[in-house]
Amino acid sequence: MAASLGPLVGAIDQGTSSTRFLVSTARWVEQDPKEILNSVYECVERTCEKMNELNIDIANIRAIGVTNQRETTVVWDKTTGEPLYNAIVWLDLRTQSTVERLLKRIPGKNKTFSKFKTGLPLSTYFSAVKLRWLLDNVEEIRRAVEDGRAMFGTVDSWLIWSLTGGTNGGIHCTDVTNASRTMLFNIHSLEWDPDLCKFFDIPMEILPNVRSSSEIYGLMESGALTGVPISGCLGDQHAALVGQMCFRDGQAKNTYGTGCFLLCNTGQKSVFSEHGLITTIAYKMGKDKPAFYALEGSVAIAGAVVRWLRDNLGIAKTSQEVEKLAAEVGTSYGCYFVPAFSGLYAPYWEPSARGIICGLTQFTNKNHIAFAALEAVCFQTREILDAMNKDCGIPLRQLQVDGGMTNNKILMQLQSDILCIPVVKPSMPETTALGAAMAAGAAEGVEVWSLNPGDLSAVTCERFEPQINPEESEYRYARWKKAVMKSMGWES
Ligand code: G3P
Repeated sequence: MAASLGPLVGAIDQGTSSTRFLVSTARWVEQDPKEILNSVYECVERTCEKMNELNIDIANIRAIGVTNQRETTVVWDKTTGEPLYNAIVWLDLRTQSTVERLLKRIPGKNKTFSKFKTGLPLSTYFSAVKLRWLLDNVEEIRRAVEDGRAMFGTVDSWLIWSLTGGTNGGIHCTDVTNASRTMLFNIHSLEWDPDLCKFFDIPMEILPNVRSSSEIYGLMESGALTGVPISGCLGDQHAALVGQMCFRDGQAKNTYGTGCFLLCNTGQKSVFSEHGLITTIAYKMGKDKPAFYALEGSVAIAGAVVRWLRDNLGIAKTSQEVEKLAAEVGTSYGCYFVPAFSGLYAPYWEPSARGIICGLTQFTNKNHIAFAALEAVCFQTREILDAMNKDCGIPLRQLQVDGGMTNNKILMQLQSDILCIPVVKPSMPETTALGAAMAAGAAEGVEVWSLNPGDLSAVTCERFEPQINPEESEYRYARWKKAVMKSMGWES
């Protein structure tokens, strides 16, 4: 007989580099939406098989949450269920000329023209410009729009529509957090904005319905979990904020994935940055619940730089080996690596920047470059933290971290050294999936985690204290800033 662990909640975590299902990819960065969907089906089925093997009753899975890489843009045909083009991934830079063309139409070429409505600057990063590119360049999409067959969505929408039946009555929706990354969404009225749709020339009928982050969107239509409600949806960084229990004003987390994203909860009021951060919706935990907001510092390249050392330079076979190389020397030997592969996001928003490695001498070797790559992740976070402290007025006294790279102890120690504050890591490493599961469970009356909001002491497992003096930290940071200036304007 199957063991009963009580009600369970599953979470689909569809990130840029991997898909996971938990119970509790050139010049253009594209992904095949069908592959994304199949990876989700496979993860769900394999996890259910594993649970059966372990004699855990999958009938106890009462709700499913979805969390996903944000901004990545998909357009599909609602009559065939087929994507009309590959998904344009958030990191993709092909829209640089689209952004420049749009900027010319804005008085004073003001990148932040919609800041108080969307919280975002005009950038290659957000979905509206990716969708504009698709409408300008893919004839099939243009035709599908004319015929009323096209549907647009970020990855959450594509997954929820497909999982709830696709052409057989699938639900076309998104949640407020994902909508807030499109640049078509008014973060105050919580509605698509007709003026912005007009500016980007986006037909509003192809946009999904916007819902809260925690409510029943629809039921799983096939597979082992047929009939289970999908009742949670959040962009991955927002889900990590929830999973890290940052429910109070001023609580923040930094997630190290492909990129690295520091979000600080600002409560029910939206705070607008004077220092290059963006304003985003943190979560809205139910139809009748208020929206909470966050200030966000987005860094495009974090884990991706380690992968680049492994795959493009071949200096290591695994990411762990990169850590080992760095540990062997414990210094960059004056070498600085600015991984501006997709331009620079916050706080610069500079699409013309490109990656550079500088400060090389005849003694520099792969170990130093590996160390400089890890240090780059920490310096980028320091820039975001400085901006956050200025905008919020109250400096963060410690940094809560999560994501795959936090297993790298050298990186975490370096991070603490460069920030000059402690870095703390929770015992539950899958905070993103946990956040989605919490949202899904809340809609179905299943409590996934019974902690008091903000009770970090109960979830912290590792703590890193600064080990170098602040003067040394400042010296290295100043050199980094110099290197950043050299990376700018490369591709203009
Ligand atoms: O905004 C992009 C972000 O959602 C991607 O997250 O985890 O794939 O780095 P990740």
